[in-house]
Amino acid sequence: MIYAALLGFGTVGGGVYKVLKKRESEMSAKIGCTVKIKKILVRNIQKASQRISDPEVAITDKWEEILQDPSISIVIELIGGIEPAKTYILDALHAGKHVVSANKDLIAVHGKELFDASEESGVDFLFEAAVAGGIPIIRPLKQCLAGNYMTEVMGIVNGTTNFILTKMTQDNMEFGDALALATELGYAEADPTADIEGLDAGRKVAILSSVAFNSRVVFNDVYIEGITKITSQDIRCAKDMGCDIKLLGIARNTPEGIEAYVCPMLIPSTHPLASVNDSYNAVFVHGDAVEDAMFFGRGAGELPTASAVVGDLFDIVRNMQADCCARIGCTCYKELPVKKMADTYNRYFLRLQVKDRCGVLAELMEVFAKYHVSVAQLIQKDSQKEDCAEVVIITARVREGDFRTAVEEMSNRSVVHKISSILRVYTKEN
Ligand code: NAP
Ligand code: HSE
Repeated sequence: MIYAALLGFGTVGGGVYKVLKKRESEMSAKIGCTVKIKKILVRNIQKASQRISDPEVAITDKWEEILQDPSISIVIELIGGIEPAKTYILDALHAGKHVVSANKDLIAVHGKELFDASEESGVDFLFEAAVAGGIPIIRPLKQCLAGNYMTEVMGIVNGTTNFILTKMTQDNMEFGDALALATELGYAEADPTADIEGLDAGRKVAILSSVAFNSRVVFNDVYIEGITKITSQDIRCAKDMGCDIKLLGIARNTPEGIEAYVCPMLIPSTHPLASVNDSYNAVFVHGDAVEDAMFFGRGAGELPTASAVVGDLFDIVRNMQADCCARIGCTCYKELPVKKMADTYNRYFLRLQVKDRCGVLAELMEVFAKYHVSVAQLIQKDSQKEDCAEVVIITARVREGDFRTAVEEMSNRSVVHKISSILRVYTKEN
């Protein structure tokens, strides 16, 4: 028998307990022995006691009761946030306990410190659930795809924003109404900032880049834009250009350094990611041997996330029995630079309101030409307002800094009423 402790008994903690109960009878056959939750740490003991009645499980609000219990060899951290989660994980690792965590906020910032501690103690620190919930992606990158030189990992790694954008696309909803629906249905949290401002996806991109390119990328290295400024008009115009709008996390390994960013992007409607809808996640990877591979599924939720946590737990139990713990620790053995956003290359979608008279388009093109911005697609639409036309442009691939300078100059021209939106367009050839 191997004993584990749960830190946190919320959505994911409760899910882990349920999944372990379901698998209890076949666990020994499956992984060679049974693993049981012995103690659960929470803040509010009464609240947790109402959700579980198991005489074999002790509920406590004292971390020392778990840390100092020599029979507990695995700690499952599902509290979230930086502190006290960081202190508890470091204590556990230093005490020789293996750790499973789903805490992307912590790993995206303090990952190195946690890995160093696990390496020092020769124990496992696994975190499959921290990125894309139930979708296996950390282990595939570290193990199944280890023979590759990975050049790109990108995808939809936030379910709440994907649900909101899906509603805006399919039901013509505006952002505020779609967010209200996401909250009502329990997809968005009471404070949805981390999701809608792209921070949650940014943390996942930091972790994915580090694992895929074997070089540490932290949260602060990731350029982030959320979806709060996207309008249903942007989505309609994107459709006219044959594209959908998705909040994408992009990690690219280029000869000049790593590109790591999160932003709403146009993606051709024919791309597999364009049909990943509602709260689903999908991660697309490209390696020199495997070429393209896509991982799709539930990126959050009680049981999908618990599925990833229990997978890690079972891996540790197997390692303990084979006496091969800490076999795969930190895989960041390079120190690659992370590029500034201005030095990245993309295509751009620009929606602007201009004066409705002859020579205006020529003037816009003159500004673009000055900064080497080439136009790939252009649509002019009637506007309801007098002397106003809406122009929607998709550029050819261009350096972001040059595009931004061109748009800045354009916005100062008297023929331009307003720049309504600027979005990046995902293209494979980057
Ligand atoms: P949650 O529902 O808010 O649960 C948090 C739990 O932690 C509660 O039981 C809470 O206890 C306990 N807790 C909070 N602060 C504590 C403290 N100082 N000491 C002891 N216990 C404390 O959170 P969750 O959604 O399960 O998320 C847990 C982790 O999984 C987070 O890192 C999250 O990012 C990650 N994750 C979640 C999902 C998802 O779908 N929810 C998906 C992927 C990853 P009290 O109730 O007593 O305060
Ligand atoms: N809030 C996240 C999402 C789930 O909406 O995808 C936790 O990572």
